[in-house]
Amino acid sequence: MKDVTLTKPEKPVPVKKAPEVTAVKPRVIIAALVAALGGLVFGWDVGGSGGTFVMPAFREVMGWGPLPTSGGEDPRVSYEQGLITALFSVGALCGALPSGFLADKLGRRRGLITSSFVFTVGTILMASAQSTTQLCSGRYIAGFAVGNMSMMVGLYQSELAPEHIRGTLVTLLQLSITFGIFLASIINVPIMDTEWGWRLSYGGNGIISLIMFFAMFFMPESPRWLMQTKQEEEAKRVMPLIREVSEGERELLEIKQELEISEAEGVAAWKDLVGSNLNMGYRLFCGMMIMLFQQLTGINAIMYFAPSILSSFLGSHAAMWANVALMGVNFFATFICIGLIDRAGRRAILLTGGAFLTLFTACVSLMSSPLFVETEALGYIIVTLCACYVACFAYSWGPVPWIACAEIFPNKYRGKAMSISTFTNWSTNLVIAQVSPILYNPAVLNLYGTFAIFSCCCAIMFAWVYFCLPEANGKTLEEMDSVFEDFRASSKVPFVHREKGEKISAKSASKHQCQV
Ligand code: BGC
Repeated sequence: MKDVTLTKPEKPVPVKKAPEVTAVKPRVIIAALVAALGGLVFGWDVGGSGGTFVMPAFREVMGWGPLPTSGGEDPRVSYEQGLITALFSVGALCGALPSGFLADKLGRRRGLITSSFVFTVGTILMASAQSTTQLCSGRYIAGFAVGNMSMMVGLYQSELAPEHIRGTLVTLLQLSITFGIFLASIINVPIMDTEWGWRLSYGGNGIISLIMFFAMFFMPESPRWLMQTKQEEEAKRVMPLIREVSEGERELLEIKQELEISEAEGVAAWKDLVGSNLNMGYRLFCGMMIMLFQQLTGINAIMYFAPSILSSFLGSHAAMWANVALMGVNFFATFICIGLIDRAGRRAILLTGGAFLTLFTACVSLMSSPLFVETEALGYIIVTLCACYVACFAYSWGPVPWIACAEIFPNKYRGKAMSISTFTNWSTNLVIAQVSPILYNPAVLNLYGTFAIFSCCCAIMFAWVYFCLPEANGKTLEEMDSVFEDFRASSKVPFVHREKGEKISAKSASKHQCQV
């Protein structure tokens, strides 16, 4: 693929008229909700699996013996617990990598059908486990499917959504993740002492993935993917199901024009992802950084370890309830994003979220430092600060990175680029999950040192959004090329800045030719 060197067009570029905002067809909402079940199963695992380690029946089947009342776990048990937790994330990051290829090969709908099936197989293995080995294989398989789904759900929702509600629809993914976490953490409490409780914690989401598997058969395929794979007649049949007639025709035309141009440029190769055409290298950098930063907020250091952190202040019983409360805050605060995302825009949400996260992580660090004596009252102050932190994450850095990655890439590279960003998310998730318990150790950084690091990361990500990330709100997926072109042209930051029209892609070239 070659870049074309052009001079700026002489006539002013006409401003594209914003498409009329029409009512959203119910099929779009239903499809987005069904796809969001993929987030629910992901969240259920995050919220439910950790709690099984203290369930007596589970410990017996795994051959771990009763929960130690003093001193730590036996090193073999700690190792196996680490393995059980990590294999899910390892599976997810392995599943994220081929997800772009699968979504392009099978289609978004069949991709989701396949991964929900694979997930169900994983949960059957986990729920029927008789040994750590069986459980671990189930976790890897289920994780693999979640890695696939965490990319494909956003992709499918964003391609089906009209631009004026795209943010809201993709936020459904985060809403379902947080609902899954909340639900599983509540359910864990009454089933804790039953014989079969842990099997529900690992396998309950298999019922949800099975529902998703069947329901996806009745959902429409993405017309963008249909056009991309030369199924124009099928795209024309699907479009009226999800758009009003005139709107659908306009969209198909836009997709067609974009495809003709990108076909003239040749097939989408992996190496083009880091090239300068369509600002692709820069856009991939944005996708990877936003996912990296999402994890560097430290959210999973709370999601995975809140009960252990809080038990040193509150005792184990109160800590478990405090954990449920935090997960509830995480779920309910996601609604704030739903209300704001398509009005306030992505940048405003990420910037305010980043500022608040910097503040609250710094407060947790301060209050848990040796400057304050450990008392129950201090424990409650820390829980409150953690709740504020979780709420801020839930309305901002929780959903927006998933939305951003589903919308900033050109159609042709979207699958591949999203799989790399999702991979970045899961690999950082794995590192945080492994490193946090080590950092929390009083002999290493302790809680306050760990949160001081998260606070610095949050401050850096605030600055990064301010200088490096353009606003995508209200733009069609096809308009995103000029969003990046204009943003870089007007930026004052040297490595972001790129002269407009100096070296632009064949696509922009043909646009300019039409306009002049
Ligand atoms: C993140 C997960 C996190 C969850 C918490 C998601 O957006 O990707 O790593 O556990 O939010 O709500």
